[in-house]
Amino acid sequence: MRLVLLGPPGAGKGTQAALIAEKYKIAHISTGDILREAVRQGTALGLRAKSYMDKGDLVPDEVVIGIIAERLQKSDCKRGFMLDGFPRTVAQAEALDSELSKRGQELDAVLSFEVDEEEIVRRLSGRRVCSKCGATYNIYTDPPSKPDACDACGGEIVMRSDDAPEAIRRRLHVYKEQTEPLIDYYQSKGKLERIPAMGPVEKVYGYVEGALSARVGV
Ligand code: AP5
Repeated sequence: MRLVLLGPPGAGKGTQAALIAEKYKIAHISTGDILREAVRQGTALGLRAKSYMDKGDLVPDEVVIGIIAERLQKSDCKRGFMLDGFPRTVAQAEALDSELSKRGQELDAVLSFEVDEEEIVRRLSGRRVCSKCGATYNIYTDPPSKPDACDACGGEIVMRSDDAPEAIRRRLHVYKEQTEPLIDYYQSKGKLERIPAMGPVEKVYGYVEGALSARVGV
């Protein structure tokens, strides 16, 4: 199964991706996670990406397209994969199509998570992440048992630098300008599944399972 998860910042893509990966045993590829890890390790990629990410801007297309082309060659993608946060521009979507067609493959579905702006701001301002293992929490809906420590590994719980109010506003603007056109792009290719994503995590996941079952029969 080959999927793309599309949606504004804070729509719950990463949260749903973890559940999908566990059930369907496909690789979860998050460009945001790959870039944040590069920033944490201080690699050349990380140093280049950090200034864009902190402001809420997109990292240049050629950088992320290169990351995905390389990542799709790994053996864990043979069973299938789910791209979380990629593509984010029409140029990235076209590059993905051409990468897949080289392999005689195509996407099975693009899940588009739909959430209103007020809820996005509430989710992102409440999000906290583990600085060690990356586990995601939310101080309003899903807090860790101890306020400053990760339940999974005990690591320090922090706020993402791009969840500051100014960066959230910028990310929403960038989403509307550069990523939202992908809804029409994939609709016209017959790949789009709209997922109502305002409700609790389990309810949203129910819609995901329904969409995948209808589309890929699993
Ligand atoms: P990325 O990490 O991809 O960020 P994003 O798309 O802005 O998405 P988020 O991670 O903020 O949100 P999400 O939808 O995954 O929501 P989550 O599940 O965490 O990208 C970061 C940056 O990297 C970009 O700004 C850009 O600079 C760069 N980048 C990445 N990919 C790129 C690309 N392809 N091209 C160029 N640049 C790229 O949930 C959010 C919160 O809500 C959590 O606290 C969670 O617990 C909570 N929550 C989730 N679901 C629910 C629910 N149903 N009800 C209540 N709370 C919920």
